[in-house]
This record gives sequence, structure tokens and C-alpha cells, in this order.
Amino acid sequence: MANGNSAASFWTQANALLRKNLTFQKRNVKTNVRLIMFPFLLCLLLVLLQRLVDSQLDKAENKCGCVCVRTQGDTCLEEKCGLEYSDLDQVATCPVPNPVEWPPLLQVPAPRYRAVRTENFPFSGYPDASCRTNASCPVTMLFTGANQSFGEIISGNMIPSSFIPINNSAAMASLAANVAGSSSMTEDTNFLEPAFFSDLPIYYLQSQCTQNSTFSISFELSAAISRSQELVCAEGLLLWRNSASEVNNELYKGYRKSNPEEQIEEIAAGYDFLNSNRRIFNVSIWYNSTYKNDTGSTQIALARIPRSVNLVSNAYLQFLLGPGTKMFFEFVKEMPKPSTPIKFDLASLLGALFFTWVILQLFPIALTSLVYEKQQKLRIMMKMHGLGDGPYWMISYGYFLAISIVYMLCFVIFGSLIGLNFFTMNDYSIQFVFYFIYINLQIALAFLLASVFSNVKTATVLAYIGVFGTGLLAGSLFQFFVQDTSFPRGWIVVMELYPGFALYRGLYEFSQYSFSGDALGTNGMRWGDLSDSTNGMKEVLIIMFVEWLLVLVFAYYIDQVLSSGSRKSPLFFLKGFQKKPHSSFRKPSIQRQKSKVFVEMEKPDVTQEREKVEQLLLEPTINQAIVCDDLRKVYPGRDGNPEKLAVRGLSLALPQGECFGMLGPNGAGKTSFINMMIGLTKPTSGRAFVQGLDIRTHMDGIYTSMGVCPQHDLLWESLTGREHLFFYGRLKNLKGSALTEAVEESLKSVNLFYGGVADKQAGKYSGGMKRRLSVAISLIGDPKVVYMDEPSTGLDPASRNNLWNVVKRAKQDRAIILTTHSMEEAEVLCDRLGIFVDGGLQCIGNPKELKGRYGGTYVFTMTTSMDHEKDVENLVRGLSPNANKIYHISGTQKFELPKDEIKIANVFQAVETAKRSFTVSAWGLADTTLEDVFVKVARGAQAFDTLS
Ligand SMILES: *[C@@H]1O[C@H](CO)[C@@H](O)[C@H](O)[C@H]1NC(C)=O
Ligand SMILES: *[C@@H]1O[C@H](CO)[C@@H](O)[C@H](O)[C@H]1NC(C)=O
Ligand SMILES: *[C@@H]1O[C@H](CO)[C@@H](O)[C@H](O)[C@H]1NC(C)=O
Ligand SMILES: *[C@@H]1O[C@H](CO)[C@@H](O)[C@H](O)[C@H]1NC(C)=O
Ligand SMILES: *[C@@H]1O[C@H](CO)[C@@H](O)[C@H](O)[C@H]1NC(C)=O
Repeated sequence: MANGNSAASFWTQANALLRKNLTFQKRNVKTNVRLIMFPFLLCLLLVLLQRLVDSQLDKAENKCGCVCVRTQGDTCLEEKCGLEYSDLDQVATCPVPNPVEWPPLLQVPAPRYRAVRTENFPFSGYPDASCRTNASCPVTMLFTGANQSFGEIISGNMIPSSFIPINNSAAMASLAANVAGSSSMTEDTNFLEPAFFSDLPIYYLQSQCTQNSTFSISFELSAAISRSQELVCAEGLLLWRNSASEVNNELYKGYRKSNPEEQIEEIAAGYDFLNSNRRIFNVSIWYNSTYKNDTGSTQIALARIPRSVNLVSNAYLQFLLGPGTKMFFEFVKEMPKPSTPIKFDLASLLGALFFTWVILQLFPIALTSLVYEKQQKLRIMMKMHGLGDGPYWMISYGYFLAISIVYMLCFVIFGSLIGLNFFTMNDYSIQFVFYFIYINLQIALAFLLASVFSNVKTATVLAYIGVFGTGLLAGSLFQFFVQDTSFPRGWIVVMELYPGFALYRGLYEFSQYSFSGDALGTNGMRWGDLSDSTNGMKEVLIIMFVEWLLVLVFAYYIDQVLSSGSRKSPLFFLKGFQKKPHSSFRKPSIQRQKSKVFVEMEKPDVTQEREKVEQLLLEPTINQAIVCDDLRKVYPGRDGNPEKLAVRGLSLALPQGECFGMLGPNGAGKTSFINMMIGLTKPTSGRAFVQGLDIRTHMDGIYTSMGVCPQHDLLWESLTGREHLFFYGRLKNLKGSALTEAVEESLKSVNLFYGGVADKQAGKYSGGMKRRLSVAISLIGDPKVVYMDEPSTGLDPASRNNLWNVVKRAKQDRAIILTTHSMEEAEVLCDRLGIFVDGGLQCIGNPKELKGRYGGTYVFTMTTSMDHEKDVENLVRGLSPNANKIYHISGTQKFELPKDEIKIANVFQAVETAKRSFTVSAWGLADTTLEDVFVKVARGAQAFDTLS
């Protein structure tokens, strides 16, 4: 125990805390297993859902059709799959080695939308609205250019005047020879031209429609797919406009309005011949890009653009080379494709939301653990026994980081084993970097928020609401913004400043890459993909990294300012620039003058103590463990209450080896005093030195040689008594065999050694056992100054005696300040006593002195029959003329006899004599007890208070 004096180094403290945390973790196996089970279960759920989706997609109608071409009994030996065996629902997934050739079509407005002249659309050349009733409205095209006569010649060539009849053995080719169009919407594959599979007819444009102009065309794609489609004539109307802006204006006016009641005037196309002439062909074409089915994309409409270009080119050729000239635009067809089975990686899609929950799950765990230590005051308890902030932060941080890493590893490994694309397709190094940065950020956040909460339950509830809320909000709202390409990217970055959204975005990107990777057979995310314009991963990584550093610094700062153990000023880091306060004793301050008022009212013994302190401050001696100089604590007034003087000008000097007992009624300020001494609160004024170190500036130094047994036991429920002592022993720089010895000795001394008690968890201890453990903790490691707040409350008499012996032995080489309500304890343990009333010391001295000073009397009691009361009084007067009757009831009388006037032998003699003359049923002579002194002092002080 010889090395107990030097302060434990950073690494020793870190080691102590680490070992404690590991033990704590070992006890928490069940919780940990449950924690790890969560991602396992979610992954399993995802896999099951995926199986369900896969089995659904596996159904015949979602696969390219197949037939068995060779059978043997019931088994099929050879199967042929392909277009020819599929129906319309199945073809999309089939391999297409030879795509179908479709005649090129124009996009033509449906008859009821074709432009007519109305009030709101008063342009020249349009037909009357009556044509809408029999669906005979013409398909309008507008044209303009620099040379009107040139323009009219060309446009006149565009629309044929007759129909080239359909040759049934080459139906498609003969349709292409006409100007055909459809009002159906295009789709994202031209493999099947929707015009031939919709209920809408196919139109052919003609300058004039004749009666009886409806034909039908039939074709066969495969045995399963054959259609016949109606061909309907539509009149082509070409209107000249003087300028491009006129064309533009009409197209704009005709556009479908948001109000469904209003007329729509659709125009098929517009041509601007610009500066074209015989030598120059320079045309720009308006086409309507908005023909699309809800699921399709805008680009698709281009599939029907080429015909409109071909139309005008043909017209120009005819103008140049004569009417017979024609560039035959025979067909459009897609490129061949392999089979494209439908894949739907549901796990990747849901992954972002589920995995956000999985990872956020770690947050409440770190938070509650931190708040628990704060709520149970364990953090401050550790601090008071010498645990510095540095080791605390390092170990706690490292501890949560380790837990998080293990958790994430389990999660990723399990997810990969079970085959989720989310994990297997994306580069593991990106995943590692992303998860690593995020869990660091999350831990830093937990530290920051832990300083806000003081209650575990509140913290837990709010943290879980946060976890699930964040997931839902991110999944529904944030993702919506991310997917909306028109939403400003800047705002998304702003939203990602919220770590939950940043996490979600990162996971979302992983899921997108694995989803499309699975569907298209490409890779998931690689480092190179980080520069993709749509990939938000780079921003997320940067945001999270910067945030991590900021939050960490800020959390440390807040912890320093707020944590109850070391109330530093918000500008504590500027300390270095301020003048350093002297750490040694200084001359009594000017303040002394102000408090003279008190001094005059003080009792001589208290004044004497004050003078002793003043003397000590002038000539410091090492022998003094504690010197308090005029300590005051004033709690500011709140809510209209006046301010409360909790401690008024306390001066006290305590040498090494003394046990000082503080007595006093509840609320007298004992705890306020102790709180100041152990650094929980700062004195309002005055100074105090512990081992020569100022409590206002050098609390950290004081903690290394201090022990505290708080009024309420501050213990970890799941650690055993032995583990507590090992932990605090290590904090006090005990090592190796010295540590083991000290712990054993300590356990024995508080009677926790035998019967396996030492290895039971503290949560299972009885109140008395906890108390004894607290005392043992306060004494381990040979602290020079020990504070014990009511150490023996709740102990049985045997344990109490045991405890007293421990304290008696301990006080020999240290100073102990002890508060108690047990006078017996005070008398047994304390060398000096101070009675504290209303924030001030009323008297101070050793128990005998006090009894002498405030007692100074014996109490004589005698019980006789009523008749002899007078005799008893005479007897007492005979013993002492100044005797004072203090109590009298039916034959029993109590007197106070001044000690200096009587001899005890005389009393006995007098009683013996009296017994002969009358019957004495009982009698007694008692010295004043400490209790009498206490009651007297407390009452006196209160009486004085009410007078003043
Ligand atoms: C307009 O075009 C016609 C037909 O090509 C041509 O005869 C005439 O000269 C052109 N006018 C001008 C001003 O170029
Ligand atoms: C129809 O098309 C076939 C094949 O191209 C051709 O042989 C036949 O002469 C055509 N019939 C008519 C009436 O044009
Ligand atoms: C849009 O697509 C759906 C399903 O493919 C189809 O039923 C509907 O007819 C299409 N609408 C138009 C106007 O083509
Ligand atoms: C273009 O197509 C859209 C969608 O079919 C339609 O609402 C709009 O009126 C068309 N615009 C013109 C000028 O025809
Ligand atoms: C085609 O017309 C545009 C617009 O008037 C003009 O800028 C461009 O020079 C013309 N091209 C030729 C080859 O004349």
C-alpha cells in the first residue's frame, strides 16, 4: 500500500476502467445476445420476403413461355422456350434473336382531341367543332419558313392523296408505304409496337378521306399472338403560318390544360423550313414529347419521330426530283436481346429502411449506458476517486466503438452469408469506411446527448422514438426528395446534416446499386462509382466525417462545462491565458472584515477555531489535512423565494489523524458543506485547502487522495463487491499483490469476505452490505482525506461495531469528516465534534469538553410516593443549594445538580439515609449525555435565531 500516495497514471486509470467495463460486459451477455439477434432476425425476415417474391416471379406468366418438345413418360427431356411459345404477358422476358419489324408510325392525336376552331382557339384554317361529333376532325400540321411558296410546295408533297392498298402477303410493308399513325401511347420497349395491341385504330393520313375508307390488317407474330387491327382514314390538314412564333403560340394554346373541362386542341407536328430552298434543306420540326404512359419515360416518344422526318425528306426529294421519287422507310425494329428474366431484389429495396433501424439501434445503447452512469452518480463517484476525464473518455469511447464494430461485423457477415445482394454486391471496403465513420459519429452523438439527459428512462424512450421515427421519416419523406430529380440537391445535402438521414442516404445508395446490379447483371458500388453524379455517397461520407469531428469536440466541451463534477466556466479552455491562481495558502483575504459581524456573535470555541485557521493560513504546516477558511455557500433565490444561506462562513482546521464528526439537525448545511469539499458544488466565497490544494482550482489533484462514502450507495448493480474494490483500488494506483492484499483486507474489515458475499453482485446485497461496501470503497487505496456521510445507517449492531473498528483503525493516518445522527457513533469515533445549526458551527470540541461545557450537571431522579415529595426536595437542597427541579409528575422528580457542588459519594450516602426514613421505589443519577448537549445547542441556536 506504500505506493497508494502517488496519483495513478493515465494508463493505470484507463486500465482500471477497461477491466471494470469488460466485467460489466461479461455480465451483460444476455442483453448482448439479444442485441445481436436483432439484425439476424431482420436479415432472416428479408430473406424470407425475398423468397416469397422470387417464388411469385417464378410463376409461368412471369416467365418466357416454354413447351416440351421431347418427353419420356412424364418427364420432359427437351424444352424449347421463346416468343413463339409465349403469350402477351410472357414475351417481355423472352430472348429475341430476331426482333419483329414494325412499320414506322406517326404520333397522331386521338379524334376527339384534334384541333378545331373555338372561342379560346380562334386561329384561322381550323375546322368547325362539329367534326368532333362524328370523329372526322383532321390531323393538323403547321408549317412556316422564309419562303411561303416553297413551303407550300413541300408540304403539299407530304400527305398522299390516295391509299396504297394492303397486300395481305406483305401487310406490314404495304402499311409502311402509306402515312400511318397511331394515338396509342408508346412503351419502354418497341419490341411490341403498342399501336398494334391497343383498341385504338391505326390511322392513315390522306389529303381527302373518301367514304368507305376503313380497312383491316391482320398479322401473326406467333401461334399465340395474332391480331387484326382496323385501319381508319384521317384527313391531313396543313396550315401555313407566317412565323415560327405563331406556330409556337398555337401549339402552346392547344396544350392540354389542367382544367379537364377546357378544350384540348392537339396538333400532330409543326415544320419550319427556315432558309430552305432548292439548294439548302434546313428544317426544324416540333413534335409532342409528352405522349407517354404513366410508367413510360419521355424519350420513348422518339420511336415515332423518325417517320415525321422521313415525311418531310420525301417531300423535298419529290420537289427536287419529281413526284415519283421516294425514300422508302420500311420498318423500325429493336436490337436483338437475350432473355431478360424479371428480377426484383426486394431485400435491397427494403434494405435501406431495415438496415437504418439496425444500425440506429446502437445509439440508444450507448446513450442509456452513459446516462445510467450519470443518473446513478457513478461517473462522479469514479471521478471523486481519481478517475480523470481523459481516461474516462478514451475507454468509454473505445468501449462503445468496440461493441459497435463487433455488432456491425456480425451484421455484415451474417447478411453476406445469407446471400443478401446488399452486402455481397457492393465493395466491402466502401461499406467498411461508411459504417465505420457512421458508428463513430453515432457514439460521439451519444456522448453529446448524454449531457442533456439525466434520467435513463426518458433517454431510452426518446432515443427509441428517435430511432424508429428517423427510419420512417427517412423512408417516406427523405427518400422521396432524393428520388425527385427536380428537388434541389443543395437541400438534400442540408437534410443529410441530420445523421439519421445521412445514414439512410448511404444505405439507400448501396441498395440502389445492388438492386440495379442484380436486375441488369452489373456490379454493385465500386470506388469509381463515387464520382457518379447521382451517387450521394461521397457527400454523405464527407458530411459524416466532418460532423463526427465537430460533435466529438463539442461533446467534450459540453461535458467539461456541464458535468456536475467539475463545473468549469464555459470559457474554461482560455484558462491558460488567465493569471494562474496560487495554489498555496495565502494571506487572509480582505473579506475577513465583512464577516466580522459573525465573529462577534460566535461562541468562544468557534472563534478560537477561526483564529487557529487564520494563524495556519499565515504559517502553513503540512500536518493539516483540511483547512477551511470562511467557506460560504449561498443558493440564489428562485421563483420569488429569498436566497438561502446554506453554509455561513465556516472555518475549520483538521489535522492528519483526526476524525471530525459533524452533528446537526436535518437541513443544517452539513451536506452542502461536504458537497463543496468533494467538488460537487463551488463555494460562493471563502477558500478551502485539502492537503494544501485549493478546492476551487485543484480538485483533480485532490481527488487522487480522497475517499468518499456518499449518503446513498453508488454502486453498479451487476458488479460484485470484490470487483468494485478492485476497480477503485486500481484507480488509487494499487497494483499487483498490493492490490489483491488491500482488497482482501478491506473485504475482511467490513465483514464481506466470508460466505461468498464478496463475489455476489452488488444488486443482490442488503442495504447494510451495500453500506459496508461503500465504506470499504471510501477507504481503499489509503486516501489522505475521507468523507463519510452517515456511514452506519441501516446497519445491525454487530456490523456497526465492526464498521466502527474499521473507521477507528483507518483514522490513524488520515483525516476523516463524518456526519451522523447517532450520538453514540460520534462519541465512539470522533476526536472532535462540531454541532452545525443553520449553516454555521455552534460549537466545536471533543465530546468530553462539550459535555462539560454544555452539560456540567448530573441529573438526579427519584420516585417515591406522593407524600414524600417534600422530603426528596429537602434531600436534594441539602446536597446542593443550586439544584434545579426540571421534571415532576406523581412522585417522580428530576433535578439538575451542578457538578462542581456535589460529590457522587455524598449522593449515595444521602440516598441510603433517606431510604431509612421513607420508601424509595427507584432512584438514579446520570451524567449528561451527548444527546442532551445536542438538543440544548440546537434549541439554543434556534431560539437565538428567532430572537434576532
Ligand atoms: C421562293 O421559292 C420559289 C420556289 O422554289 C422560288 O421560285 C422563288 O424564287 C423563291 N423566292 C425567293 C424570294 O427566294
Ligand atoms: C403481294 O406481295 C407479294 C410478295 O411481296 C407479291 O408477290 C405479290 O405480287 C403482291 N401482290 C400485289 C397485288 O401487289
Ligand atoms: C398505358 O399502359 C397501360 C398498361 O400498359 C394500358 O392498359 C393503357 O391502355 C395505356 N394507355 C394508353 C393511353 O396507351
Ligand atoms: C401533347 O401531348 C399531350 C399529352 O398527350 C397533350 O396533353 C397535349 O395537348 C399535346 N400538345 C399538343 C400541342 O398537341
Ligand atoms: C438553318 O437555319 C438556322 C436558323 O435560321 C440557321 O442559323 C442556319 O445557319 C441554317 N443552316 C444553313 C446550313 O443554312
